[in-house]
Amino acid sequence: MANHEVENKMEKLISLAKRRGFVFQGSEIYGGLSGVWDLGPLGSILNENIKKYWTKKFVEDREEMYKISASILMPEKVWEASGHTESFTDPLVEDVETKKRYRADHVLEDAGVETFNMSIEEMGEKIDELELKSPDGNALGKPKVFNLLMETYLGAVDGSKDKAYLRGEITQGVQVNFKNVLDSMRPKLPFGIGQIGKAFRNEIVPGQFLFRVREFEQMELQYYIAPTKEEGERWYEFWKAFSMEWYKGLGIKEENLRFRQHEKDEMAHYAKEAWDIEYKTPFGWKEAWGIHHRGDWDLRRHQEYSGTSMQYIDGEGNKITPHIIETSGGLGRAMLFTLLDNYVEDEVDGNIRTVLALPRHLAPVTVAVFPLLKNKPELVEKAREVFTALKKEFGNVMFDDNGNIGKRYRRQDEIGTPYCVTVDFDSLEGNDVTVRNRDTAEQERVKIEDLISKLS
Ligand code: GAP
Repeated sequence: MANHEVENKMEKLISLAKRRGFVFQGSEIYGGLSGVWDLGPLGSILNENIKKYWTKKFVEDREEMYKISASILMPEKVWEASGHTESFTDPLVEDVETKKRYRADHVLEDAGVETFNMSIEEMGEKIDELELKSPDGNALGKPKVFNLLMETYLGAVDGSKDKAYLRGEITQGVQVNFKNVLDSMRPKLPFGIGQIGKAFRNEIVPGQFLFRVREFEQMELQYYIAPTKEEGERWYEFWKAFSMEWYKGLGIKEENLRFRQHEKDEMAHYAKEAWDIEYKTPFGWKEAWGIHHRGDWDLRRHQEYSGTSMQYIDGEGNKITPHIIETSGGLGRAMLFTLLDNYVEDEVDGNIRTVLALPRHLAPVTVAVFPLLKNKPELVEKAREVFTALKKEFGNVMFDDNGNIGKRYRRQDEIGTPYCVTVDFDSLEGNDVTVRNRDTAEQERVKIEDLISKLS
């Protein structure tokens, strides 16, 4: 794709997202907060639909799964145990004039330098050697290690405040509750604990809309297995394939998804093995999802730091520390990639139209209902009846009587509504309506009494 097309697609999508109530810049009226986005009315529904789809596939459809909802605030000790206070870092480099901050690895990669294996000192030497400058053309300082965890202080009295962190990954909320789930639910291995919730990272350079942000939601499954090589291999492969199938269910084209294995030096400190599902964005192949073999890292470390046993007693009475296969993805990225992949411009009746070809289970509005004319009370009344019946059945149904029918169709196409139902004068006699399909733009006449089963 040529560069202008790339910018074009992202720009068009960002503009549509704002104009149609999907995503707004956080605290926009105060100039916006970098790396923070708010979901509008339609974005909230899309987000909920993605969560429902995740919960159904990863938790509800399976027998051995539990779901929890842990707190965002966790004490410093948790993050020392998990290794994040020490290892959850990025290399930061500063423009010496403007003091703007950049990722040293990104500065080098943009200059064609491979940064795997590079220490922070080596990055500094390479930046000096190549005389790399900031995007503003100024010299760059020495790279420093920067921790991404966001800290806060709990307690009212100065001096007696306890340091806590907003969780940098939702995972630790599950790990610290492993024993509680064992004791309360008595699961047998293998079993999983799923969670959806917010995570916070003080990203040095947030950007590309919802792609790299400082506050985001994650959907994660921690799958506990017997600590053997065979079980590890079996379940790793299983969750890798499962996660890819789930991602395709967002309506994303197969050719725009791929797996990529992490290099040894690239892996997170807790991982024994790591693969990403990547999506082909207009700005290159980017991580969408991560599947990690975490081994016994989390349970071993929490046992050590908390003094609480994190062991599981198997059928023969042996105490074991289970291994964990994790499958983890960001909701914002899932939403961004779904929107990008389903954004289509095509031609209908000689006019260019914009369509979000969202799969029906994700579309924020399932069906829209129109009276042909808004100044004919008999049409409005009949359309309202149809609307009420469909709303009861499908929930997210929209009524629109504004502008000509062609314009109303375009507005629904743009937000991905799969069906539009129009009540016209023939409806009054024949008790039937026109159902128009978003993807084909074809219309068919359907009896009102058959409408729900037809749309179902
Ligand atoms: N518990 C494992 C974990 O957090 P990760 O690869 O750091 O692993 C998992 O994050 C997923 O969370 C990523 O694949 C991505 O979808 C999402 N994610 C991570 N950082 C993000 C950020 N700054 N902005 C948006 N999404 C992010």
